[in-house]
Amino acid sequence: MIHSVKGMRDILPPSSFAWNHVEATARRIFARFNYQEIRTPILEETALFARSVGEETDIVSKEMYTFEDRDGSSLTLRPENTASVIRSYIEHRLDQQPGLQKLYYIGPMFRRERPQKGRYRQFYQIGAEAIGSDSPAIDAEVIEMVATILQELAITGFELLINSVGTKESRQRYNEALRIELESVAPKLCSDCQRRAVTNPLRVLDCKVPEDQPIIDSLPSILDYLSDEDREHFRRVREFLDDRHIAYTVRPRLVRGLDYYARTTFEITHGALGAQNAILGGGRYDGLAESLGSKVPAPGIGFSIGEDRLVMTVEEGKAIQSPKLDLYIAPMGDPALRHCAVLAGDIRQLGVSVEVGTDRKLKRMLELANKLSARFTLIVGEDEIAAQSYALKDMVSGEQTTMTRQKLLEHFQHG
Ligand code: HAM
Repeated sequence: MIHSVKGMRDILPPSSFAWNHVEATARRIFARFNYQEIRTPILEETALFARSVGEETDIVSKEMYTFEDRDGSSLTLRPENTASVIRSYIEHRLDQQPGLQKLYYIGPMFRRERPQKGRYRQFYQIGAEAIGSDSPAIDAEVIEMVATILQELAITGFELLINSVGTKESRQRYNEALRIELESVAPKLCSDCQRRAVTNPLRVLDCKVPEDQPIIDSLPSILDYLSDEDREHFRRVREFLDDRHIAYTVRPRLVRGLDYYARTTFEITHGALGAQNAILGGGRYDGLAESLGSKVPAPGIGFSIGEDRLVMTVEEGKAIQSPKLDLYIAPMGDPALRHCAVLAGDIRQLGVSVEVGTDRKLKRMLELANKLSARFTLIVGEDEIAAQSYALKDMVSGEQTTMTRQKLLEHFQHG
């Protein structure tokens, strides 16, 4: 038997209904904040991610699905979508459009991580990017939007963590300070951290190895290395959040595992998720567009929700069930089946969900109607067809009503 690939899974009903519910809710909230959808390809040139997410990150150094195409070019299944959105923004000169570009996306991402609960190799993100402004008001609006999506899905008990990693200059000063500090303690850290202590000290803060944590906690805080402008930007982001009564915790270690961040970074975690507790992550990436070849500055901020984790949280909160079937028609015999197929078509035109049985045994068809929780059933035999009169059974009250074809259609038209 052939199984699905490790870390990749099928999403079956009724769970797929919860997925649709989550996506429909997100789309509704995006529209309220004036975001429009962008769809980018799943394959990109490998260089795109290497240059934006960063060579030293776990994502690029260990987790990408990269392969050589037949023409020798190196392609990668997207591990995230911010880089692709910015590529598209530059390629299509979206900077020339009026106002900010507020774009959202929903789709699969690929990272070759060790699979566990809430962590997959093909996972889905619902994300948004606001490109074209460095105003702290946009940071707060983006955070407000994502909090609104969670609220709309009746998710409570989440925690918003925020930080600022400053602009390049602040980060360089911090990296230097870290490098010096790490010289003495690096030998006690894991081998990845020892390498990063030299190549990209900031990435040491992403380390998940439990034994390393006390040492990492004792390292200097990035907030002490912010320039005055960065500090003011971060103060204003918090002020805007306070105005909106959005609660948050400042987490100076939250540098996030991607190199493109500048200034604000944030994450939302949820206790019910276990080890993989980040429902979403995001941040500002001023300078990213320029590093990918944009001639004009395109400061931006965005986030990506881990949809797999979001759906898990929604499903834990309440059981979401697939929509019920409105009508089950049980035809008795072949002529009745032909008749019912046409009748079903007419009733479906009214927006009603209809299933036509094909079993030869009436009993089995009625059992199935029950299992499908059909709201109504209709048994159609030769007598009914001859008399053009149908017995509609209400499966909740048990009541049966005989009616003409016209009355039957009217019933569903108004029901
Ligand atoms: P990220 O933190 O790498 O950020 O991923 C965002 C979210 O995707 C995580 O918080 C998590 O919920 C989910 N996620 C990541 N990896 C997996 C996995 N293997 N299985 C299941 N869920 C996963 C980004 O991707 C950035 N593009 C976010 C962003 C947008 N920053 C600015 N704009």
